[in-house]
Amino acid sequence: MPNVEPTRVAILGGGKGGTLLLDLLSQVPGVELIGVADTNPAAPGIRRALDLNLRVTDNVVDLIAEQGLNLIVDVTGDPAMPALINQHKPPGAEILGGAGAKLVWNMVQHESTLQGQLFQAEKLAGIGSFAAGIAHDINNPLYLVLGFAEAIIEEHDPTTIRDLAQEIIQAVRRISTISREFTQYARQSISSEYVDVELNVKLEEAFKIAQYATVLQDLSVVKDYTGKQLIKAKPDELLHALVNLITNAIQAMDGKGTLTLATCDEDEVATVTISDTGCGIPDGRLEQIFEPFFTTKAPGKGTGLGLYNVKSIVGKNHGKISVTSEVGKGTMFRLQFPLEGQPS
Ligand SMILES: Nc1ncnc2c1ncn2[C@@H]1O[C@H](COP(=O)(O)OP(=O)(O)OP(=O)(O)O)[C@@H](O)[C@H]1O
Ligand SMILES: [Mg+2]
Repeated sequence: MPNVEPTRVAILGGGKGGTLLLDLLSQVPGVELIGVADTNPAAPGIRRALDLNLRVTDNVVDLIAEQGLNLIVDVTGDPAMPALINQHKPPGAEILGGAGAKLVWNMVQHESTLQGQLFQAEKLAGIGSFAAGIAHDINNPLYLVLGFAEAIIEEHDPTTIRDLAQEIIQAVRRISTISREFTQYARQSISSEYVDVELNVKLEEAFKIAQYATVLQDLSVVKDYTGKQLIKAKPDELLHALVNLITNAIQAMDGKGTLTLATCDEDEVATVTISDTGCGIPDGRLEQIFEPFFTTKAPGKGTGLGLYNVKSIVGKNHGKISVTSEVGKGTMFRLQFPLEGQPS
């Protein structure tokens, strides 16, 4: 890539529009976000900017006076703003406001809705592959219920009957847990807020869901959760990404091998690794796997959207994804999220 000067952008207005723009622009190469101004220190865009370690201020003039600023995006809706900007902006800085800003705002919002729908569509397509695992796990307690109920019919001793009824309750609870975990996972994500998330908890939750993707058979699972820090993320999206990675790992091992799930905190970075001893990925394919619709699975078996979505979720949550792999040995996916500015 030629070494092009980045476009330096300031956002005025930290409402919903400003926040969406911030999320989108912070991922766009060639854009350098300078900061966000809003008179309300509790505006969502201000909180988001703080998470991203950007400059925040309630003083518009301060922010737009910044030398080298290329673009001022005004999403304040304040009729007095254009005059103020024109008075204080550095020469050469352009203004995107009014109808132009509204158009960009609408496009960003539209993009964010589409992306949400894409995540959901891919998640639902994947749920089919869980069916066998779920049926298996529900069948066991169901047979227990049947057996205990049959025993109750023959039984006269009230204490034994009570014990059997207790067993039935346990088995039904197990079934209802499985069903609850799945309905929660399957439903469209409703949270649009970034909150403190404990990576270990999400990884464990994801493992529980993903293990239905294939019956684990002879897989051994190693868990090494040493990371303790919280990261800022959208919990449902993060869960979705982790489920995808663990599912891929389990599928790559075809029933035999070791799945290793690990977390650690180091140098202001929280890391999650998901490793398998599966088929591996040839060097030439390491970039391709993140492309939409790239799959090596049989037709109808995979959408090829899994890793594409994982990558965009990780990016949206300000993390990084990397992969190392050796054919015939296995693969490791690593996710890294910044801890800077997080309470310890
Ligand atoms: N852990 C892994 N080991 C080996 N190959 C992998 C692994 N993870 C992903 N891949 C490769 O990357 C491809 C793309 O993965 P992705 O999750 O995007 O789609 P998919 O798994 O094929 O389909 P879907 O996710 O819809 O089931 C896979 O088809 C596979 O070839
Ligand atoms: Mg997949």
